[in-house]
Amino acid sequence: MPDTLKNDRLLRALRREPVDTTPVWVMRQAGRYLPEYRATRAKAGSFMALATNPELACEVTLQPLERYALDAAILFSDILTIPDAMGLGLSFAQGEGPQFAHPVRTRADVERLGVPDMESELRYVMDAVRLIRGELAGRAPLIGFSGSPWTLACYMVEGKGSRDFASAKAMCWNEPALAHKLLDTLARSVIAYLGAQVAAGAQALMIFDTWGGMLGPVAFREFSLRYLAQIVDGLKADVQARNVPLILFSKGANAHLAEMAQIGCAALGVDWTIDLADARQAVNGKVALQGNLDPAVLRASPEVIRREVRRVLDSYGNHPGHIFNLGHGITPEVDPEHVKVLVDEVHAYSHRQG
Ligand code: CP3
Repeated sequence: MPDTLKNDRLLRALRREPVDTTPVWVMRQAGRYLPEYRATRAKAGSFMALATNPELACEVTLQPLERYALDAAILFSDILTIPDAMGLGLSFAQGEGPQFAHPVRTRADVERLGVPDMESELRYVMDAVRLIRGELAGRAPLIGFSGSPWTLACYMVEGKGSRDFASAKAMCWNEPALAHKLLDTLARSVIAYLGAQVAAGAQALMIFDTWGGMLGPVAFREFSLRYLAQIVDGLKADVQARNVPLILFSKGANAHLAEMAQIGCAALGVDWTIDLADARQAVNGKVALQGNLDPAVLRASPEVIRREVRRVLDSYGNHPGHIFNLGHGITPEVDPEHVKVLVDEVHAYSHRQG
C-alpha cells in the first residue's frame, strides 16, 4: 500500500507500545445515530443495498471520521455477510433484526455449506476495503472484522435474532458432531474472510463473539473458544495476515479473559461489567485491552460522560496497551454531539496522564 499511516496510535497500543494519548474508536461508529448515515441508507434503500455497494459502504465508513478525531476506521459491513454468501438469504426487515430465508436445521443443511469464495461471492466486501484504504489516505488504520463461528452459528440455526438462541444451543447438546461440523466450516470461512480483508488492505482485525457469554464455561471452551483459537492459528499460517493484530471480543465472557488471552490474539475487547483493573489482572500482560464504557452513558449529560470516560481511563491506569471503546455498540438514539465529548475527553485526559 502506497500510503503512510499518519496516525498509528491504535497499532502501537495493540502492540502495547507507549502512545502520546489513548487511541479511541466506537463500536458501530458508522450507524443510525448519525443523520448523514440515515441519509445514505435512505438513498441505498435497505441495509443490504448499502452494505453491498462499495462506494456507499466507503462513504458511511468515513462519515464518523469527518466528525470526530477517531483513531481508527472500521469497515462498514455486517457479520452476517458470510452466511449470506453461503446461500442463507439474509434480509433486514425495517425496524427488525436480521432474518435468513434458509436457516440451518438439518444435517443436510450443514453438509451443503462450503467456504464462500472471497473474491467472487464476497467481492463487494473486498472492494469496499480497497476503496476505503484509498480514501482514508493514511488518516487512521482500517479495521476489518468478522463474526465468530459461534455467533454466526447462533443466527444461522435460529434463522434470526433471539434472546437465548435456544435452537443453536439445542444443536450443541443434541447433535454435537453436527454443531462441530458447522463451526469448523465457519472457522475456515472466517480465516479466509479475514485473510482476504488483509490482502485487500485491512490493517487490524476484530472478531465479534457477541453471544459467547451465553454459554456455560465448559460449552464456551468447546463451542466458542476452540474455534477462535483455530482462527488465530489459521491467520498465523497466512504470510500476509500473521503480523496483523487481532482483537477478540466475547461479550459477557469476562470469566474467560485469562483463557482467551492465551490463544495468541493481540487484544481482547471487554464489556462494561468488569473493572479494567481486574481485566488487566486477569490477562496478566499477555494482551492489550479494548473498552469498556457502558454505551448507556452516552445518554447522560456531557459532564457525566467526561467523568465516566475518566473513570474508565483511570481503571486501566497509566500502562501501555489500552484502546478506549464502548463495552458494546453505540445505540441509535445517542446525540452525535455526545460522541464528540467522549472522543475529545479520551484524548485530553489520557494526554495529561502521560
Ligand atoms: O462498527 C461499525 O460501525 C461497523 C459496522 C458493523 C455493523 N454490524 C453495521 C450494522 C459491525 C461491526 C456490525 C457487527 C454485527 N452485526 C454484530 C456484532 C457486534 C454487536 O453489536 O454485537 C452483530 C451481532 C450483527 C448482526 C446485526 N446486524 C444485527 C443484530 C442487526 C440489527 C440490529 C440493529 O442494530 O439494527 C444488524 C444491522 C446493522 N449492522 C446495522 C448496522 C449499522 C443497522 C441496520 C440499519 O441501518 O438499519
